[in-house]
Amino acid sequence: MSQSPDPGQIIVDLAFGFILSGALATAAKLRIADKLEAGPKPVADLAKEAGVDAQSLNRVLRLLAMFNVFKEEGGKYQLTPAADLLRTPLPHTLHHAALMVTQDIFWKPVGELDEVVRSGENGMIPHFGAPFFDYLEKNKEAGAIFHRGMSSLSDLENAPIAQAYDWGGVNTIVDVAGGHGGLLIEALKCAPKAKGILYDVAHVLKDARVNEEAGRWSCVEGNFFKSVPPGADVYMLKRIIHDWKDDDCVTILSNIRKVMSPGARILVCDCVIPPGNDPHGGKVLDVLMMSALPGFERTQDEFAALFDRAGLKLSRVIHTPALLSITEAVAK
Ligand SMILES: C[S@@+](CC[C@H](N)C(=O)[O-])C[C@H]1O[C@@H](n2cnc3c(N)ncnc32)[C@H](O)[C@@H]1O
Repeated sequence: MSQSPDPGQIIVDLAFGFILSGALATAAKLRIADKLEAGPKPVADLAKEAGVDAQSLNRVLRLLAMFNVFKEEGGKYQLTPAADLLRTPLPHTLHHAALMVTQDIFWKPVGELDEVVRSGENGMIPHFGAPFFDYLEKNKEAGAIFHRGMSSLSDLENAPIAQAYDWGGVNTIVDVAGGHGGLLIEALKCAPKAKGILYDVAHVLKDARVNEEAGRWSCVEGNFFKSVPPGADVYMLKRIIHDWKDDDCVTILSNIRKVMSPGARILVCDCVIPPGNDPHGGKVLDVLMMSALPGFERTQDEFAALFDRAGLKLSRVIHTPALLSITEAVAK
């Protein structure tokens, strides 16, 4: 029989949790993992290379080592499998994801989550004076950290999501707000005869990964609240519907509904929140979507209701090995 955790310790661990995010962000900002690529090093050497205080760095790394991110042995720190994922030369590095999740556009609104709960409005206007994506467009540095981090986080999940779907007979795929193109590239690998369109705003498309599956897809810029490219068999929306409140989602989905080919499918790739108290990463993400964006993670019934309002019907939910599921919709 498993022992219940000590009730007091549950509260203490939750209260101190933000310190762990701060420590991880520090290791990423100082690029400690890169500095350990050639082998273990004493903290004094790491601190000298990073230009920081050795004792303070040691205290941060000692904390992270409790979670198997870095390891101290014989007076030297070394990489662990988790710390290795922070190395920047890795094609699927999580360095940029760690910087993105801990950047101030999330950190500050979550730090004053009670205000979000009191007002029912996310914290972007109070803290940054603009809605989330408008702010990222105007603030180039914050935008670069976010979109690069999104691409890095998405790299973990793109292949398993694409591989979970049956792409038989698909000729054209539009990735609506597809960022730098990671999911579209994986989908095209699974659907060798298909061509693709990556649809997003101009300042994001300029960093699209045009050299991968080159020649099979093109970039189209635009605003999904106004229109989407017409005539595809599959429209993918990954981590998009969760960014917006219901009325906005209905506008986006209705714009797709108007122009999709007969028999086309819409694949909403987001968390599907299960009933009950069991742990699910979507419950964490949901509070982030509420804090910095007007978004929600939704249950299957909530997706079905959204689709219904947009002239669509939920046809099936495909769970994937990633946190996100594919919730498929077709015309009613
Ligand atoms: C959370 S990111 C998801 C990106 C990508 N689908 C992924 O999973 O990595 C949201 C995306 O929506 C795009 N976006 C936001 N507002 C948009 C709009 N009005 N029209 C088109 N794209 C938009 C952003 O530029 C960004 O790439």
